[in-house]
Amino acid sequence: MRTIQIPLQKNPYNIYIGTGLLDRPLQMEGLAAALNGRRTLIVSDETVYALHGEKVGKVLREVGCEVLGVSLFEAGEPSKRISVLEGIWDDMVRAPLDRKSMVVALGGGVVGDMAGFAAATFMRGIDFIQIPTTLLAMVDSSVGGKTGVDHPLGKNLIGAFHQPRAVVIDLKFFETLPEREVLSGFAEVVKAAILGDEELFYILEREGPGLIKDPELLEVVVSRAVSVKAKVVAEDEFEGGKRALLNLGHTLGHAVETVAGYGAYTHGEAVAMGLYFAVALSRAKGLIDELSASRIENLLLKWGYKNAPEELSGAEIIAAMKHDKKSSGGSVKWVLPLGIGDARWGLEVEEALIDAQLEGKDK
Ligand code: NAD
Ligand code: GLY
Repeated sequence: MRTIQIPLQKNPYNIYIGTGLLDRPLQMEGLAAALNGRRTLIVSDETVYALHGEKVGKVLREVGCEVLGVSLFEAGEPSKRISVLEGIWDDMVRAPLDRKSMVVALGGGVVGDMAGFAAATFMRGIDFIQIPTTLLAMVDSSVGGKTGVDHPLGKNLIGAFHQPRAVVIDLKFFETLPEREVLSGFAEVVKAAILGDEELFYILEREGPGLIKDPELLEVVVSRAVSVKAKVVAEDEFEGGKRALLNLGHTLGHAVETVAGYGAYTHGEAVAMGLYFAVALSRAKGLIDELSASRIENLLLKWGYKNAPEELSGAEIIAAMKHDKKSSGGSVKWVLPLGIGDARWGLEVEEALIDAQLEGKDK
């Protein structure tokens, strides 16, 4: 087991990473102590709960939690909306949770974002822990405290910063994770490598998605990706500046998700399209050397990531980008790669250049 700490001033917390952690919960010492005697509500989606809910409930009881109930919703991005969140708030009131209670988010990024936002808003904020069950949630969404829901006009537009008390990353969850979701999660690993870990990028170049079956290497890869994120979050918890780096690939990615309809593409598929796009913009602006640009493109191709489909409307994508949280006063701020392990945030890109890259989409 590896433990990575997020050294935040107010609420530092641990991320535990290993295979079979939930079979030995007492090994995560700090966590077991924090959970002992707590009244909890498990929040999950129907798919994940059917596969893993019973076991997690048992583990929580083993470490001394009183599990008051479960709040479930239909799996998938279309559930990440305020009307579904209301159902979680109702379950919290009925459980009943109090200020000292704790929410346990068991699932992928949709569950983590929803459960975290429910915890952030219930009684003005109660504790929660993350038990991510997708690769994407393990390396990205469960870490860093961004919580929230989508708006029909833009992804994640309604939300709050609310850090979990702990994150438990048990790689055993991959036993049931569909292949498409594995690849989706690796897109965020590729993003982390481009942003800040050349060695991780090299491992990904050497391997392919089959590395999911190598528990030791997987632990290394997940830990390295989590470390990239942990370092950035520790420096800029509330995205005053540098944390924007983590949005690499997300400006186009979020717009694609919105325009195509939530759930049409997985988050990781859309981020991978955004990575291709960011490389193209960076090359067009002369910010990245050709070798690094083609290494990134080749890696994305080798792993099987698709570029944004022709049939998506360029005009609609541009409009959606302007609604993105990363835009300011209607002007979109970009994160672009400068090389392998290096990127810059807050960049302006002329609309003509974006149009040129999206050219052909409306035809
Ligand atoms: P998801 O939560 O929709 O999970 C994908 C699918 O996999 C779902 O159908 C789910 O039921 C299923 N699933 C989950 N774990 C499983 C398992 N172990 N076995 C079998 N099936 C399983 O999607 P995701 O890709 O995990 O997360 C995407 C979401 O995360 C998006 O809404 C995105 O905006 C958000 N996100 C948030 C942050 C953040 O910082 N908060 C960062 C990145 C992404
Ligand atoms: N996924 C972007 C962030 O956590 O800041």
